[in-house]
Amino acid sequence: MSDLVFRALSLDKWQWSPSPLPGQVVLVTSRDEHGVIDVAPKSWVTMAAGSGPTVGFGCTREHRTAKNVEATGEFVINLPGVDLAETVWSMPDVPDRLAGLTTLPGTTVDVPVLRECPAHLECALDRIVEFSHGEVFIFGTVRRVGVDQRCLEPDAVGERYDRLGHPFFFLESGWLAPLGQAFPVSDRPAG
Ligand SMILES: Cc1cc2nc3c(=O)[nH]c(=O)nc-3n(C[C@H](O)[C@H](O)[C@H](O)COP(=O)(O)O)c2cc1C
Repeated sequence: MSDLVFRALSLDKWQWSPSPLPGQVVLVTSRDEHGVIDVAPKSWVTMAAGSGPTVGFGCTREHRTAKNVEATGEFVINLPGVDLAETVWSMPDVPDRLAGLTTLPGTTVDVPVLRECPAHLECALDRIVEFSHGEVFIFGTVRRVGVDQRCLEPDAVGERYDRLGHPFFFLESGWLAPLGQAFPVSDRPAG
């Protein structure tokens, strides 16, 4: 006889502890119609389709990110390493929108990429899906994937992830966790 018992968590995501669905933290750069640059942390982020390829992230409709993407049709998903965790966490509260981070021009989009992030995805807006309570999910077609060339140097796959700076995840309010050590399972392709 098993003593396994599944207890129900609240349907209010903000009450989840432990959250069974950590979300990778990214920094979305965008530009308004006057050229003003914005950067904001987002963590409801995912691959959406291999064709495109297409990625997506959840956002509040009233956030500058959503307004900018709707206005210009472009954005960049920058992937910070765990060394930037404290900076990223403080970003919504500091007056300097970039929180000291620096930019380089995008290659395929008129939106900058963040120099301190070891990778980024330059995206063109595919569609915006509306949910209730002012939430939207923004899908983008990836135009270019930029990765710091130092991430590509090691022959060992695990070391390439080390060089990516260990991407990190939002768990619950005040709690983040980095990607652990990469390990091989088999040569069978996933999917
Ligand atoms: C770690 C972290 C993750 C966040 N994830 C999201 C998210 O997935 N979606 C969202 O709309 N806001 C998220 N936020 C909140 C926004 O970053 C914050 O409200 C920001 O000020 C919005 O800026 P914007 O108006 O420039 O888009 C997150 C904040 C932090 C610190």
